Amino acid sequence: MAHNLSPQSPVPVIAARPRLPLTGKIRVPGDKSISHRALMLGALAVGRTEISGLLEGEDVMATAAAVNALGAHAFLVDDGRWAVNGVGIGGLVEPEDLLDLGNSGTSARLLLGILATHPITVFVTGDASLRRRPMGRVVAPLSRFGARFITREGARLPLAISGAADPVPISYHLPVPSAQVKSAVLLAGLNTPGTTTVIEPQPTRDHTERMLRHFGATVTTELVKGGGKRITLEGYPELAAAPIAVPGDLSSAAFPLIAALIVPGSEVTIEGVGVNPLRTGLIECLHEMGADIALLNERDEGGEPVADLRARSGVLKGADIPADRAPRMIDEYPILAVAAACARGRTVMRGLAELRVKESDRLTAVGVGLSACGVRVVVEGDDLIVEGADNFPAGGALIETRLDHRTAMAFLVLGLAANEPVRIDDAAPITTSFPGFLSLMNGLGCTMREEA
Ligand code: S3P
Repeated sequence: MAHNLSPQSPVPVIAARPRLPLTGKIRVPGDKSISHRALMLGALAVGRTEISGLLEGEDVMATAAAVNALGAHAFLVDDGRWAVNGVGIGGLVEPEDLLDLGNSGTSARLLLGILATHPITVFVTGDASLRRRPMGRVVAPLSRFGARFITREGARLPLAISGAADPVPISYHLPVPSAQVKSAVLLAGLNTPGTTTVIEPQPTRDHTERMLRHFGATVTTELVKGGGKRITLEGYPELAAAPIAVPGDLSSAAFPLIAALIVPGSEVTIEGVGVNPLRTGLIECLHEMGADIALLNERDEGGEPVADLRARSGVLKGADIPADRAPRMIDEYPILAVAAACARGRTVMRGLAELRVKESDRLTAVGVGLSACGVRVVVEGDDLIVEGADNFPAGGALIETRLDHRTAMAFLVLGLAANEPVRIDDAAPITTSFPGFLSLMNGLGCTMREEA
């Protein structure tokens, strides 16, 4: 939790091309989005919510610490099983100290939604990356409920929020397709009388809506003209504790999946991965690029679709990825760009403005990193254009991870297919979403190792 107060020393890692193909059956850690929501809704429900498969990465642990500081009780029961004793809607109490949410934008934005309709004052901060990220996108709608904010310039953290004592429900058109903003508004609507409405221009991940229903809230969804959605929530629902099984995170599975596609001769199966259709844009892109990926044993687990993913290596070809797919794969562009760098021909990824406001400016980071690895790449406005190496990319570069876990993992995967090893300056951020990444990857036959 004290990331920005006592920074850890950086952990440089080098990834080289393995001599043998990658093989094996693995599971990846639990879905980050679903894990945050399980802890938060568990904290607001009445009774004890039992959670299996919770991601124990730093981001989710920041949420666990925050809900505890707010008076709920989230705790590890035994190996891999968590529970939350909830306080009921409106029952959170003022924490004694500021909430440090580390690197986690999801913790910050969703918790601000909850706090906006609790009549308490809370001070919120995060690490250097989170303190740079825009909070205006939640401050604007949450102020309309009656919450008051004092923020740094540009609506950045640290900020103070005083939640509304008499909140009014709102109807909000999302100006950007963001599940975090949508969720913040819906969560604020829980302790608000009447109906809260969100209209999203393009559908974004719907884990909040699914889980709210799972806990007994009334949430309706209808399609609106132009492909968007209108979501409504009835205020003051009785949220009853309900068990949650968190599936494996497709955003984490993406790394071993693409490693298997680009290391010749490989075959890797990743079991129990969440395949919610609002998250599977990456698989669509890879299929269009000719990838051999099979979804096996498709099933429903706790209200979320789940499958085993089997990936086999093969030749990938470039593709044109439309902008309207971005909300369904927003976190996967760094690793898709790595696949594109190993493909034949040009890949155009359109409409990536949102990538600039992630844990780092990922559009720039991917452009700079790929070009340092000898890949021809152009950032044109909000589009990323990657010319696939006819053979393998050159590699041989040192990549700055800039507190961004996905940049770190993406370039380590590139190192597996590059002619010269790829180094990253700091692998420590990987634990925000994917604890055990190096050992899991090396168990498949990867060659990634920490450097002195
Ligand atoms: C998330 C939504 C996405 C994603 C983030 C997790 C969520 O952010 O990038 O990693 O859990 O709702 P935006 O909603 O800002 O696009």
